[in-house]
Amino acid sequence: MKAIVLYSSRTGNTQKVAAAIRQGLPADTPCLPVSEAPASLAAYDCVFLGYWVDRGLPDAAAKAVLATLTNTHVALFGTLGANPDSEHGQMCVEHGNELVPKICHLAGSFLCQGAVDPKVIEMMYKQFPMGHPHGKSAARDALHAEAAKHPDGDDLARATQFAATVWRQIQE
Ligand SMILES: Cc1cc2nc3c(=O)[nH]c(=O)nc-3n(C[C@H](O)[C@H](O)[C@H](O)COP(=O)(O)O)c2cc1C
Repeated sequence: MKAIVLYSSRTGNTQKVAAAIRQGLPADTPCLPVSEAPASLAAYDCVFLGYWVDRGLPDAAAKAVLATLTNTHVALFGTLGANPDSEHGQMCVEHGNELVPKICHLAGSFLCQGAVDPKVIEMMYKQFPMGHPHGKSAARDALHAEAAKHPDGDDLARATQFAATVWRQIQE
């Protein structure tokens, strides 16, 4: 059995989680940005595909690779600014899962919080008025302050554990 880890990361959060995912897999498992994905992924029994959440969905680069997969097993992982346990977080998990081609078996999904680019926060606060869900508010500031601490050591340990569990299960 062979696995490969592919990820899309704009500001580095998902890249960190990808490295942690790889730690849970056999030592010779490649870990590459989607831009460097091999032309054919046919040699791999399981693709671990990482994305950052862009307006509730996997980002475009990850989505493009996801649509081409025909591998037996696909495991998704990703990062987002919101708490993954929130309603929005759960919806993001579902949206990602729904994009896995029906020909593949979804072996699992893992999302954790990731710092939001301060430039993007500034832009949103300028674009949206106070009172708008994306406008500046105490709750929004608190969400961004919490996100700024992630992915943390606990997130990365859970990512490694997730990968190890998926790997064990698909071999049973
Ligand atoms: C254009 C844009 C859209 C985003 N949309 C969402 C979103 O819908 N929900 C969310 O929780 N986080 C959203 N985020 C936050 C990112 O998903 C989060 O910061 C992620 O960890 C970035 O990962 P990266 O460092 O690997 O690029 C968005 C960020 C950007 C730049």
